[in-house]
Amino acid sequence: MQIKGDCKGLYGSVVVPGDKSISHRAIMLGALADGDTVVYNFLRGQDCLSTISCFRKLGIDIEEFDERIVVHGKGLKGLRKPEDILYVGNSGTTIRIMMGILSGQTFDCVLDGDDSIRKRPMDRVIKPLRQMGAVIDGRDGGFPPITVKGSVLKGINYQMPIASAQVKSSILMASLYAEGETVIYEPVKSRDHTEIMLSYFGGDVTISGNIIVSRPVNRLQPQIVDVAGDISSAAYFIVAGLIVPDSEILIKGVGVNPTRTGIIDALLNMGADIEIINKRIVSSEPVADIRVRTSCLHGITISGDIIPRMIDEIPIFCVAAAMAEGITVIKDASELRVKESDRIYTISRGLRALGADVRETHDGMVIYGRPQNGFNASTVKSFKDHRVAMSMAIAALVAKGETTIEDFECVDISFPGFIEILNGIRRDI
Ligand code: S3P
Repeated sequence: MQIKGDCKGLYGSVVVPGDKSISHRAIMLGALADGDTVVYNFLRGQDCLSTISCFRKLGIDIEEFDERIVVHGKGLKGLRKPEDILYVGNSGTTIRIMMGILSGQTFDCVLDGDDSIRKRPMDRVIKPLRQMGAVIDGRDGGFPPITVKGSVLKGINYQMPIASAQVKSSILMASLYAEGETVIYEPVKSRDHTEIMLSYFGGDVTISGNIIVSRPVNRLQPQIVDVAGDISSAAYFIVAGLIVPDSEILIKGVGVNPTRTGIIDALLNMGADIEIINKRIVSSEPVADIRVRTSCLHGITISGDIIPRMIDEIPIFCVAAAMAEGITVIKDASELRVKESDRIYTISRGLRALGADVRETHDGMVIYGRPQNGFNASTVKSFKDHRVAMSMAIAALVAKGETTIEDFECVDISFPGFIEILNGIRRDI
């Protein structure tokens, strides 16, 4: 993909696709509910389509219409043994959360995915699920393919060593099949869409601070889920609106669940002109419109509790930091090393190729903002990581000349239509 630099301004309103995390969960809980769940604004990215494909193999009828998806749920005990491997593609959320669901079934199955998924650690999920009684294994102890033999589960008390919504959600799904109560302690609060949606579907979940208690229920009630716009996708336009001169963008209908808004807090601390307007609740999740205008940003340090609240936005945050005055330090973010790519390495490498001064540390980065000669176009790798590809596209807007981003089609994993929306608000094309 070629991205023309020296962008003269971005102007207009955009609507980003549905939230990836919420879309996955709507299919999963819809499949386990008794009856038809209707999902509006479902994200038709490859990851969420992988979730649909896995549940179809498990015997769930899922219909796709222009405006909505209808999941014909068969109840907590309605899944059937798949005839084939469950292939999750690039989707860590699909494989990890499904491990929890599949552990409590009465049949065996195998989960596998692409080259990136085969390198991602699953022991973080295997360990608590085994404590619950799951019979589950991975290649070399913890990598896909994963085999799951359905078994009888029991509730556990689990202190999570890392903040991970995928791990937490996997345990919560298994808890639906476990005898007794499951208690999860999170070191730092991670996104809570599973807890919210489980309650919405009639599950028995209580939350106090970082402690979640889940008890099994006899049935889940099907629901209408209107999926909020994905703040992770909105983040590319938020940063673009801040760093491209003469810009003003309104992003409509974005999910602003506080477990996801770390990127907004961090950018506000850097001096960003961002307004959150028209706040409302949609399908139990907070939603708002976000207005952003070109701003003079300055460097900050981010670490600790804010990191899980912006973990997927750190690649695009790095682009903002590289254009800010002064130094930005990112700490406590070693989880970035086990995402779709090692994002500490891949984003540093990409930004350096454009002329930024970015140094890697074991758990983050140090970014010396506003390189003297500005950004200069180059050919950069996406490493087939959708978030790196889109972050580099935004960085390319403020580079001199035309940047080439390799393997750009990976953006379809989370944001089909990204480039069309971006070109639609450029004042100069
Ligand atoms: C997700 C949780 C996060 C995030 C991922 C989606 C989810 O992963 O990075 O893109 O939907 O639960 P971790 O649980 O590994 O932090």
